[in-house]
Amino acid sequence: MPNIYVTRKIPQGALDLLKEKLGEFEINPDDRVLTREELLEKVKGRDAVLCLLTDKIDGEVLDAAGKNCKIFSNYAVGFNNIDLKAAGERGVMITNTPGVLDDATADMAITLMFAMARRVVESDTMMRQEKFTGWGPMLLLGQDITGKTLGIVGAGRIGENVAKKMAHGFGMKILYTDLKGNETLEKETGAKKVDMETLCRESDFISVHVNYYPETHHLINEKNLSWMKKTAILVNTSRGPVVDEVALVEALKAERIFGAGLDVFEDEPKMKPGLKDLHNIILAPHVGSATTGTRTNMGLIAVQNIVDVLSGKEPQYLVNKEFLNAR
Ligand code: GLV
Ligand code: GLV
Repeated sequence: MPNIYVTRKIPQGALDLLKEKLGEFEINPDDRVLTREELLEKVKGRDAVLCLLTDKIDGEVLDAAGKNCKIFSNYAVGFNNIDLKAAGERGVMITNTPGVLDDATADMAITLMFAMARRVVESDTMMRQEKFTGWGPMLLLGQDITGKTLGIVGAGRIGENVAKKMAHGFGMKILYTDLKGNETLEKETGAKKVDMETLCRESDFISVHVNYYPETHHLINEKNLSWMKKTAILVNTSRGPVVDEVALVEALKAERIFGAGLDVFEDEPKMKPGLKDLHNIILAPHVGSATTGTRTNMGLIAVQNIVDVLSGKEPQYLVNKEFLNAR
């Protein structure tokens, strides 16, 4: 029987599948991230590890896992928590769970856009504090959404999903930046590929959907924040370090843009100083894919990736093939 470890509780349906397909496994019994020491100890001698985006998997952890380890199956679409090259060099496959969370994550990005544009959190707070004294023509004025321009930074699966929903549902005009052109998106929504400066200057809403790599560190920074409209709303549901959070705090403090919505943070779970004191931002604790259905489906894929590898097949969602091939 293979020796498998799961670093934290994930939805039961996925754990049931794991047991059905591969038998008994060990799981972290506590609903918390393992410490570094625990992680190094617990991966020892495993054939497969199901890990989370909150587990840092580097050469040291891979060495601790040892020679029999064939796969670290990451329960996430993002994989910036894993050193892909170090894994490849050791012949360890790294997999992710793309596709099944596109709708949920796109819906969260849209939720943040709407909630900020219509100041839903401030409205709720006002009601709870019993500060609503009657209808007012100037009370909590927000921004229009329908027919406005949406800038998508990174038109991959999730960015494309957001763009289609907003173009078809709310008549938004779509601009996007991406390394490659997205023909489907252009055909279905009339989207236009532009440079970052044009996107920032012309968009009413800007939603970030890139993977986090060294190249996308602080992709949204002081300079491109300064290009944005005073009425613009910025949303990030990708990875925190893509946005320079200190520069964002400054821009929001000075009201150089209208507002922002963040589901991810640079030093997660910490926030940069000043962020939580701002009224013109909505903050969420990295819950983009957090629906019961989506989290179960991610688990089923993470398990299937392990089943495939342990039965000698190439898993469908292998992300470090180039480094495995380079050995
Ligand atoms: C969530 O952030 C994921 O990468 O799945
Ligand atoms: C992210 O995974 C994307 O495809 O946009």
